[in-house]
Amino acid sequence: MQTNFLWGGAISAGQTEGNKNHVKSKLSNFDMLPMDERRLQPVYKDDDNNIFNTYNDDHHPSDLGIDFYHTYIQDIKLLHDLGINAFRFSISWTRLFPTGEEEIPNQDGMKFYRNIFKELEKYNMEPIVTLSHFEIPLNLITKYGSWSSRNVIDLFLHYADIVMTEFSKYVKYWIPFNELNMILHIPFIGGGLVFTRKDNVLQKEYQAAHYQLLANSLVIKHGYQINPTFKFGCMIAAGMASPYSPNPEDVWAANLSDRKALLFSDVQVRGNYPSYFDNLCKQNNLNLDITDKDLKILRENTVDFVSFSYYSSACSAADGDNLKHTATNGFETVKNPYLTNEDGVWQVDPLGLRITLNQLYERYERPVFIVENGLGTTKDRVIDGQIHDTYRIKYLDQHFTEMKKAIEEDGIPLIGYLMWGIIDLVSVSQGKMSKRYGVVYVDLDDSENGTNKRIKKDSFFWFKNYLSLNGLGENNNEKRLSKISH
Ligand code: BG6
Repeated sequence: MQTNFLWGGAISAGQTEGNKNHVKSKLSNFDMLPMDERRLQPVYKDDDNNIFNTYNDDHHPSDLGIDFYHTYIQDIKLLHDLGINAFRFSISWTRLFPTGEEEIPNQDGMKFYRNIFKELEKYNMEPIVTLSHFEIPLNLITKYGSWSSRNVIDLFLHYADIVMTEFSKYVKYWIPFNELNMILHIPFIGGGLVFTRKDNVLQKEYQAAHYQLLANSLVIKHGYQINPTFKFGCMIAAGMASPYSPNPEDVWAANLSDRKALLFSDVQVRGNYPSYFDNLCKQNNLNLDITDKDLKILRENTVDFVSFSYYSSACSAADGDNLKHTATNGFETVKNPYLTNEDGVWQVDPLGLRITLNQLYERYERPVFIVENGLGTTKDRVIDGQIHDTYRIKYLDQHFTEMKKAIEEDGIPLIGYLMWGIIDLVSVSQGKMSKRYGVVYVDLDDSENGTNKRIKKDSFFWFKNYLSLNGLGENNNEKRLSKISH
């Protein structure tokens, strides 16, 4: 592949690493997630059946993950065989600082991540590191109320400082937080938030969002002091909403829905809250702790590139009560009659990727980076040792085609494409293995039974071939990269 376009794959710690022994002091919010419908719902501590009361160690997906803690050497080798040149993974805050309050990080944990960096270096693969991927130590939730407390910012900065200092020579691309807008949809997963039935939920969500945004800026500020060549990206779950009909009320509904994501990138890229934010606070009786000093920090420490996940577009209607709904990343959306989910759990909309790339670049004029995209499906079957995932090949082909058009016809400076769950992993929304994304199959079922063997799916060979035929052009890419500055 003659290019320095970042073609790669992505995973997260909680969904892959395993090796947790479920000593309560070492758990994170992700380890607490139940295997039922409460998984994505807000957690209320005054409800009897809240996830703290019903927690048991019988079966939790992050017990084993895909045992990446022990298999990273062979997994990274497989990814090298695939031909990719970039790999996004997250560092587990809880693995390094089990209570979130230790001074010194856990040395086994540090060794594990150093070894991953060394493996990537061996194959010349660019690491893209997420510092917080839906993960916060449980102790910080019970002691401080997680990100609803300003105290957590300094604890996160200490963790970030150690990681950025120790691994400075290996990493250029950092993503401090995964999908910050998810705090409005899945607040326990996105921010470890716990409510009481008396709480103004939005007050807590926006307060926590502000502290995360502030922590994001402080990480950037400090990161440049450690190494001025670092590049930082924001991260939102993108996939903008189409109006259900041309009715202006539906168009406006789509606009309002997009704000829930774009507010987060606006702050991280432009350095300030959008114009409607004051009114949003007034209308919802929000009384937020946001100081002038905070606003200065946000203004002065913005990201270098706009990274985002894209699985599908959403759809909005002013009055959607009688319309069909369907699940999408983190929330329910009106079903778009022009899209199907016959291949995956969520609707498929390849052109939506081109639209999103254009929308984000036109809005921010900073290089963009697709750091998650892929087809999560329950269709994969092993037949005579093979997985004929034609639907995934179709998905990738269609999305790559739209991505190329965005680069070549629309002039979008795209840094790279990272396929989500490039090796099968535990799904966030379902907590199961059976919703699979990878081009590499992992032989584990929803009860963590199986050999844990890796099998290359048909899509693996297709992707490998695609990569060898479709470099996106070294010169173009250099032009793109040169636009990243701070
Ligand atoms: C994104 C997350 O929201 O969507 C990933 O960053 C997640 O961690 C991915 O796995 C797909 O969602 P799910 O629920 O299918 O795992």
